[in-house]
Amino acid sequence: MSTLAAEKGAVNLGQGFPDFDCDPLLIDVVTDAMKQGLNQYPPMTGVPVLRDAIALKIKALYGHDYNPASEITITAGATQAIITIILAVVHARDEVIVLEPCYDSYVPNIQLAGGVPVRVPLTPGTFRPDFDKISAAITTKTRAIIINSPHNPSGTVWTNADMLKLQDILEGTDVLVISDEVYEHTVYDGLKHQSVTCFPSLAARSFVVSSFGKTYHVTGWKIGYVAAPAALSTEFRKVHQFNVFTVNTPVQYGLAAYMADPKPYLELPAFYQRKRDLFREGLRRTKFKLLPSEGTYFQCVDISQVSDLSETEFCKWLTNEIGVAAIPLSAFYGNGFDQHVVRFCFAKKDATLNNALERLAML
Ligand SMILES: Cc1ncc(COP(=O)(O)O)c(C=O)c1O
Repeated sequence: MSTLAAEKGAVNLGQGFPDFDCDPLLIDVVTDAMKQGLNQYPPMTGVPVLRDAIALKIKALYGHDYNPASEITITAGATQAIITIILAVVHARDEVIVLEPCYDSYVPNIQLAGGVPVRVPLTPGTFRPDFDKISAAITTKTRAIIINSPHNPSGTVWTNADMLKLQDILEGTDVLVISDEVYEHTVYDGLKHQSVTCFPSLAARSFVVSSFGKTYHVTGWKIGYVAAPAALSTEFRKVHQFNVFTVNTPVQYGLAAYMADPKPYLELPAFYQRKRDLFREGLRRTKFKLLPSEGTYFQCVDISQVSDLSETEFCKWLTNEIGVAAIPLSAFYGNGFDQHVVRFCFAKKDATLNNALERLAML
């Protein structure tokens, strides 16, 4: 959709990345690190000051203690983190539960590891987890379950009750949890991000994945981390050493310095909630039916009142004829399930959102 949007000069609300720049201070601290000569290979697990800063942040926000030396590893973004986890712990014929719709790398990663993806749908319409279905999908071959809250593409946020339920159904099993928390700092309306790290028995079986790209508006920097108990981190690092080995040194030092101030991530919910509200307000003037957006920077809409086209055909039409790009939700399902829902990204300048809304106003 991004290629088509560029070809047609459409406003690209498809792919999930900001069209505004990061805090200039972040550029300064990374530049300082480069000027100080911090330009050679860092330790395989990441520079200690950044791992320390992450451990402090997790403790402050979620109350969980990770040992930065043995339990936190810096990665080249969340995507590299996820494939590394899967290659480390999923073996031939192991089953891994994925909750669809889901981020597009999960299933190919499981297949690359020789594992078997077991697709469990989130409830169509609400995108809430269906714990009866999840429970029924757990077998003696289940190695792991991948969860993602706040959720791309639906924007739903798991509740405390959801996490307790997950904890409950995994009790007495050896199932690992891969918790994709890249949108941990974009949760709205006073909701709280329910990290697995808030739940000791989940934390003990979990790899937590996060991404600085989402938090600090630098998706192109490709830097994130994995936090996991020492035994799991040891396995993770065996693969990490040979697929990426190390991650950009000056960016790590810069981020460590920048993280000393929690304000940028603490203020992120208010920053994006205002954009979400501006965008929703405009969309209310169309025939789209708005789905809730509790977190992430995505807004899904039901297109049934606007068009009979399939989601994919509708997104092509919208880009070509109206000049706004969106993503069909069917792209996040293995079987292309079409429920007449498309996703817009509102991580954009107000001017971009207003431009898109003017174009959408005719629908
Ligand atoms: C749910 C989810 N996980 C992981 C990623 C990838 O993050 P990164 O850019 O750090 O690899 C994304 C990016 O869109 C995402 O939406």
